[in-house]
Amino acid sequence: MDRDVIIACDFSSKEALYGFLGKFGDIKPFLKVGMELFYKEGPGMVRELKEKGYKIFLDLKLHDIPNTVYRAMKNLASLGVDITNVHAAGGTEMMRYAKRGLEEGARGNLPLLISVTQLTSISEEILRKELLIGASLADTVKAYAQNTKEAGLDGCVCSPLEAPIIAGLGLLSVTPGIRMEGDGKNDQKRVTTPAMARELGSAYIVVGRSITGAADPAEAYTRCMKEFIG
Ligand code: C5P
Repeated sequence: MDRDVIIACDFSSKEALYGFLGKFGDIKPFLKVGMELFYKEGPGMVRELKEKGYKIFLDLKLHDIPNTVYRAMKNLASLGVDITNVHAAGGTEMMRYAKRGLEEGARGNLPLLISVTQLTSISEEILRKELLIGASLADTVKAYAQNTKEAGLDGCVCSPLEAPIIAGLGLLSVTPGIRMEGDGKNDQKRVTTPAMARELGSAYIVVGRSITGAADPAEAYTRCMKEFIG
């Protein structure tokens, strides 16, 4: 299994991102580009990063009717990204269409396609009172992961604590909620260290503030890689 540390690039502009990447010298980390940066800078920035040799997890969490997601994925695949994702709540058929879009749009390497089961911002109470879903959060996560498997996707975004369940289905897990020993939790509720995530079977850890907020981001990244990859 490939394992890697992905830096969550929660920056508001390309200039801020490039200023940050400038601190890494020749090191080219795997980067997660999310909605904030993508909607500001567009696909051109993703192409530019790929041309510079970065691996990209494009975290746009698509969720729409199957045909629309299929067409959107075709376009995203043509950017040459390495990982992208959808909401499992869009259903199994939507996930199958997403995969087909990637297969048809990919130039060269097929990006890994993963699903978001439940957002960590969704609580049992929101599930019941707002979304009128009677099943427990844990049961919906398991069912969505099962659907993800049936649709032929590669894995799920989840907490490292849920990675063993995901691995049991033969799926890989991409796990945020990582903090280096001694760092603050910020708004994350359940955090694990890179070493703990490795033990629990995470394939990729997504690390934001423990690296982006460090006094020496390249040093924090190298330390994180050493702890996670060995
Ligand atoms: O700074 P931090 O390490 O907490 O950043 C984690 C990254 O992972 C952020 O980009 C956040 O949006 C993302 N994420 C998360 N929890 C999820 C899904 C994504 O923290 N369940």
